[in-house]
Amino acid sequence: MSGRDAVVVRAPAKINVHLGVGPLRADGFHALTTVYLAVSLHDTVTARPGEGLSLRVTGEGAGAAAGPGLVPADRTNLVWRAAELLAEHAGVRADADLEVAKSIPVAAGLAGGSADAAATLVALDALWGTRAAREDLLRLAAELGSDVPFGLVGGVALGTGRGEQVSPVLATGRWHWVLGIAGEGLSTPAVYGELDRMRADGRVPDVTGPTPAEPVLAALRGGSTAELAAALSNDLQPAALALRPDLRRALRAAGDAGARAALVSGSGPTVAALADDEQSAVRLAAELAGAGVFRTVRAVSGPVPGARPAG
Ligand code: C5P
Repeated sequence: MSGRDAVVVRAPAKINVHLGVGPLRADGFHALTTVYLAVSLHDTVTARPGEGLSLRVTGEGAGAAAGPGLVPADRTNLVWRAAELLAEHAGVRADADLEVAKSIPVAAGLAGGSADAAATLVALDALWGTRAAREDLLRLAAELGSDVPFGLVGGVALGTGRGEQVSPVLATGRWHWVLGIAGEGLSTPAVYGELDRMRADGRVPDVTGPTPAEPVLAALRGGSTAELAAALSNDLQPAALALRPDLRRALRAAGDAGARAALVSGSGPTVAALADDEQSAVRLAAELAGAGVFRTVRAVSGPVPGARPAG
């Protein structure tokens, strides 16, 4: 034990500004080329000394049992598994009192659960004084889920493999977005499954590999919002729209309200609308809040750093 009382780590949500989905692999995952952007909507993970593991979840979607839109506070939570995995790796007892204060909506395509797991690895590494090597933390993160390594890295990063191989990319701007959360959560496997069916029956063209990310990478390097707006793409969007046709109206509402561009974030159902600047994002958020198509609307900006101890 390092003797620390409490470690507080902020866990940012992500949006995928490019999500190229290749064919289904033999292991049940899809080959991806994706570009992640961490944004200023955070959960907070607090780790305190404890006997055994305990977990409390508060805020958006907190619930005692798993269910649509609910976060379990037991060993099925990715945070709990992150704690056990780090303890096993470091050869220490998994003693900690964990608290997750949620602001990131659940099952929204914003990788909130993945961000919490990444933040837990960082928080417990500090609390337990285990000083895991960066590459070990990245490996443990990849075991927990495809989006978890990005939660450690943050900023803007290219994701390959099944999304778990991340490398930071250059971005010269800060972009302002409005996130619109529409209705109930969507299951990520269901959306990938729908895309496979759409490709098999010709509703969308089949592919031999994920679409390259070059246009979006060039736009991020250049820093222009117009260029980024033109380059945004998400191969999962047609599948999310097939499962949730109301999202079409949500995307249209974002365009009508003055967004530069709007796309479904990850597997959805969150809509990410790109604004010209901070003021436009605040105006856009106000307009979309009144449009009656979103349950929650948040103005955010990014890139922001990945999971790290506060203060
Ligand atoms: O890695 P993660 O646990 O987040 O993945 C959840 C599910 O999403 C997988 O079981 C799989 O159905 C789908 N998935 C996929 N291809 C990826 C990532 C996730 O098919 N690259």
